Amino acid sequence: MQEGNSQKEQWDRTYASANEFFGREPSELAVSALPMMKEHGARTVLELGCGQGRDTWYFARNGLSVTALDYSDTGICQMQDAAKKEGLEEVVTARVHDARDPLPFPDASFDAVYSHMFFTMEFSEEEVSKMLDDCRRVLRPGGINIYSVRNDHDPHYGKFEPKGKDMWKNPMGFVVHFFTEEKLRELSSGYELLRIKEFEDSSPPFTKKLYEVVLRKPR
Ligand SMILES: C[S@@+](CC[C@H](N)C(=O)[O-])C[C@H]1O[C@@H](n2cnc3c(N)ncnc32)[C@H](O)[C@@H]1O
Repeated sequence: MQEGNSQKEQWDRTYASANEFFGREPSELAVSALPMMKEHGARTVLELGCGQGRDTWYFARNGLSVTALDYSDTGICQMQDAAKKEGLEEVVTARVHDARDPLPFPDASFDAVYSHMFFTMEFSEEEVSKMLDDCRRVLRPGGINIYSVRNDHDPHYGKFEPKGKDMWKNPMGFVVHFFTEEKLRELSSGYELLRIKEFEDSSPPFTKKLYEVVLRKPR
């Protein structure tokens, strides 16, 4: 459970002081997700926790229509400015939204949902489970939900200031929730679980160990 909006303020401050906090290149997850989305015939994608938009632009440049949400208005403005500069504003819709609130979209309105290092933020298991349910609601039958979370092999697992079950606050001031494979299997209930795979994200400011999770809404 997030304490007030201190983590939101932390993201706003961080993005304001570094225009490309995670770099400009798409994440390893986005590069792995794009062909899967294409195989599933996805044209519309909902991205949660898009931040400054490194993956949003990548999907938009590669033919997908992306609706990107984040609760950091600073991140969303930077993402929109960059999309405009690249002439991608027609295919990117950005919205400031706190994902703990219900998603502001009708049932079955997206072919895919995508998020990189979003569910690994300061959310309780109950909140993650509720958000995954809401993602399933907005997916069309057969649509896929691809996400990543930091895992129990990550060098920061169990380090720094404890902040609740499997959560620690790192010296940069971010609270991170780490997941075991077993927990991710439990959280996939209501979906078909297509894949859990470990990978590394070497984007700045340090290398992270994550699980990629691919879920499909039953037809
Ligand atoms: C680790 S960053 C990842 C950003 C982006 N996906 C990337 O990889 O470049 C997590 C993002 O989740 C956003 N976030 C955290 N809690 C949120 C919430 N409750 N609602 C919406 N966005 C949230 C943060 O503002 C931040 O941009």
